[in-house]
Amino acid sequence: MATDGAGMRTDTLKIALLGCGTVGAEVARRLDAHGPELTARAGAQLELAGIAVRDPSRRRTGLDPALFTADGAALVGRPDVEIVIELIGGIEPARSLLLAAMARGASVVTANKALLATHGPQLYEAAEKHGVDLYFEASVAGAIPLLRPLRESLAGDRIRRMLGIVNGTTNFILTRMDETGADFATALAEATALGYAEADPTADVAGHDAAAKAAILASLAFHTRIRVGDVYREGITAVSADDVASARDMGNVIKMLAICELSADEQAVSVRVHPAMIPRTHPLAGVREAFNAVFVEADAAGQLMFYGRGAGGAPTASAVLGDIVAVARHRVGQGRGVGESAYAQLAIRSIGECVTHYYVHLDVTDKAGVLAQVAAVFAANGVSISTVRQDGHGAEASLVIVTHSATEAALAATVENLRGIDAVREISSVLRVER
Ligand code: NDP
Ligand code: HSE
Repeated sequence: MATDGAGMRTDTLKIALLGCGTVGAEVARRLDAHGPELTARAGAQLELAGIAVRDPSRRRTGLDPALFTADGAALVGRPDVEIVIELIGGIEPARSLLLAAMARGASVVTANKALLATHGPQLYEAAEKHGVDLYFEASVAGAIPLLRPLRESLAGDRIRRMLGIVNGTTNFILTRMDETGADFATALAEATALGYAEADPTADVAGHDAAAKAAILASLAFHTRIRVGDVYREGITAVSADDVASARDMGNVIKMLAICELSADEQAVSVRVHPAMIPRTHPLAGVREAFNAVFVEADAAGQLMFYGRGAGGAPTASAVLGDIVAVARHRVGQGRGVGESAYAQLAIRSIGECVTHYYVHLDVTDKAGVLAQVAAVFAANGVSISTVRQDGHGAEASLVIVTHSATEAALAATVENLRGIDAVREISSVLRVER
């Protein structure tokens, strides 16, 4: 390593890029276009040494074809490469390539939430063992500076709860359903046509993407290890146009939320992702289309909200490039950034123990005594009713019930018992209501 009289590096800091798709191509182009600025900020010349892709023969506009290779292992094995950026996605070969890079002493930057939420501890341990940085700001909420505030700015505070909209595709779909009255299938088709949803939208609409992001957020906020398997998950495919209309009638809106909570005794956390009604007056209710936002409640800071674009090439590249500059600065200064903080070792609360309010929509036979029967089932399970509304005439009616706070286990038992009442023709919807 060459240095000047003041100890600053005068040699070049070489970067390997793994993946050159939506995000990778934007990172590569911006590294090239903004090289002098980034170099000035990092304190060393940054140079893209190579790019690994699946198909190196494909032309990529504005990028030198000589940089491309299909051999990711050889690229990360180059002794002159000091920073490896992983933008392939998925578990393998991303995991093996990052581990190989760190074992050789390179620092790594990734946007891969699926990998971090599954193998985060292994990656952190490798970073610690080899004395390198593992940065991943882009893995949750794209462009929004969120993970560094959790890891650094709020390291002196105690976070109690986080409520986030962390998936742009589902927020776009629910926004369309709310604003146009569209059903789920129509809104999904629009999200696909606009390029928000993938050809296979399962990871988004079934909540896998949000669950991985929730695991990363909860691990950082509560200083404990949470894997994606610890996260309770429900998608939005069952949310109907009727549910959205009911929410509107009640002054609420349905959002796909990631909810991370510290228990009152501070010994456990619960992490869940599912659709939920929130009041239209809540700051998250105004987060429209494909935007993301995370609402944080901390002891000293009070309430904070982080808002911005959670996906897309340029917004995600912004977070990746910020990590590159941070990691490069550490290499120049021969230091490291923050590593894992998982000392708390908190227990994971099961979904049955979580407490919230519920909206239950029942189709019933409209005859004397039915409401009393239904109310008795709620009471027998210790679930207190807040409001009841009856719609419809003649033999058929619907009951819309909103409860006071209750455990998921008590609500599940209530729903099970309601199925046993002859006059209850169908339980058409059960949704959580977050206050
Ligand atoms: P893309 O699918 O657009 O790009 C993936 C890239 O990886 C392609 O260039 C592909 O090569 C390359 N690739 C695939 N397999 C291999 C392999 N075995 N070896 C080397 N290269 C390979 O993904 P995105 O850019 O959308 O996402 C990248 C990462 O960023 C993911 O982890 C994703 O979750 C995350 N992310 C994405 C966001 C977004 O808005 N897209 C937002 C936030 C995070 P080729 O081009 O030849 O096919
Ligand atoms: N599919 C994700 C979303 C991309 O819709 O938010 C960003 O992680």
